[in-house]
Amino acid sequence: MATTDPLPLDGQRILELAARSMFDMFANASEGMLLVDREARVVWINDQYKRFLPALGFPRVEDFVGHPVSEVVHNTQMDRVIRTGKPILIDLLSNRAGTFVVSRIPLRDETGQVIGALGIVLFDHPETTLQPLIEKFAALHRDLDDARRELASQRRTKYTLASFVGSSDAAVEVKRQARRAAMSSSPVLLLGETGTGKELLAQAIHAASKRADGPMVSVNIAAVPDTLLESEFFGFAPGAFTGADRKGRDGKFKLADGGTLFLDEIGDMPQSLQAKLLRALQEGEIEPLGSNKLIRFDARVIAATSRDLGQLVREGKFREDLYYRLNVLPIRVPPLRERRDDIPALVEVLAEDIATRNQTGPLELSPEAVAMLAAQPWRGNTRELRNVLEQAAMRSDSRHIEAVHLEQVLREAGIERVAPLPLGQRVGQRGDLLRSLGDQVAELEQQAIAAAMTATGGNKVAAAKLLGISRAKLYERLELTV
Ligand SMILES: Nc1ncnc2c1ncn2[C@@H]1O[C@H](COP(=O)(O)OP(=O)(O)O)[C@@H](O)[C@H]1O
Ligand SMILES: [Mg+2]
Repeated sequence: MATTDPLPLDGQRILELAARSMFDMFANASEGMLLVDREARVVWINDQYKRFLPALGFPRVEDFVGHPVSEVVHNTQMDRVIRTGKPILIDLLSNRAGTFVVSRIPLRDETGQVIGALGIVLFDHPETTLQPLIEKFAALHRDLDDARRELASQRRTKYTLASFVGSSDAAVEVKRQARRAAMSSSPVLLLGETGTGKELLAQAIHAASKRADGPMVSVNIAAVPDTLLESEFFGFAPGAFTGADRKGRDGKFKLADGGTLFLDEIGDMPQSLQAKLLRALQEGEIEPLGSNKLIRFDARVIAATSRDLGQLVREGKFREDLYYRLNVLPIRVPPLRERRDDIPALVEVLAEDIATRNQTGPLELSPEAVAMLAAQPWRGNTRELRNVLEQAAMRSDSRHIEAVHLEQVLREAGIERVAPLPLGQRVGQRGDLLRSLGDQVAELEQQAIAAAMTATGGNKVAAAKLLGISRAKLYERLELTV
């Protein structure tokens, strides 16, 4: 028996109608719908969607419709759906309008070509069961963002070359060399006494280099016990040794990937590890403890030491090949006593920094106090100068620091000589004498004045008498020293 279908609809037509009613259903039930064309440009939004526009930053529909979706919806994946032709059936989308459950479906023509995509905002009612989950997700997202930002700011270095205070010839030369080193990717070796600013310079070189956006990772070799250094440098595989972290850990080399690795106090590197360090530097590869796997890393190395590396090499305590590997761009950082002219400026910067950190008013030093500081030997260099200023600031009841306060601090700190060096001792330092006579005389004069001020406890009348000059002349000289 041949029957005719009462509804003369073919499959294709049914599908079309079904698609139509499903679309209408979604359009009504969803919180908003958005359509993009094959260029991922927004071509249509429904009325519900319009209420998101102000929160997205577009008060007018025409500022939104007609624009590339990635420009108007932050974090959208619609362009990806167009590109891949694959739906994202359910996802969480967070942007300035909030966090939403969304669905993204590619649209195809008869031949199967992607011609656009439909984005559906599924629920954002507080009463839906998903809301607590969405809130938790949004909160985690915020925490993650905060943590990332925090980490980035910690890795970003504190110092730039402008932080290296000093306009003496010696300071200018150090900064010139540091700037040159920043342009290159070769290893840098910073040589200088403790407290001369080697770490500051290492950070400044990193910050001025192409790698400034990468991490700056420091290891103070003198501060890490020998037995831990290897895993500190190279990391270890899960369960590499008893008590090792179950998950394993990345070493500093790996952490510095794409950035700069600062090896402080390289002269204290135990001999047992020097060969492994050399190999890592030569090959650009490390082998985490207990892993049998080589990991490539790309880090620029800056090493520093306060020890005489050449001497250590001669004594057989430091490998010669490692020394040459590190000593590509050596920079000698001069001690403070070779650039006394910079001391007043340093005092000013350090005093300001101390006041800011302690949240007190600005520190003021009398001219005699500054002159006295300029005359000290400063074996501990800028770090010691800073400590002395900090101590003096703590002692003084007011924000004024006088020579007497300093004298007391210096004596108690065991700083060996408050008075200037006698001439006889200076003769041995030939390098120091081969400078402009004017500078040397001025320096000696400054030292003599500081010594006299110290000896007389800051009494200017007595100091002038001791020096055999008039009080007016002493005042004039004191003015000059600041
Ligand atoms: N030229 C300088 N200008 C300003 N501050 C300096 C200068 N040199 C050193 N400092 C400060 O002195 C302290 C010691 O410097 P640091 O770089 O740690 O010395 P090092 O690594 O040579 O021992 C730090 O607080 C640093 O900021
Ligand atoms: Mg240091």
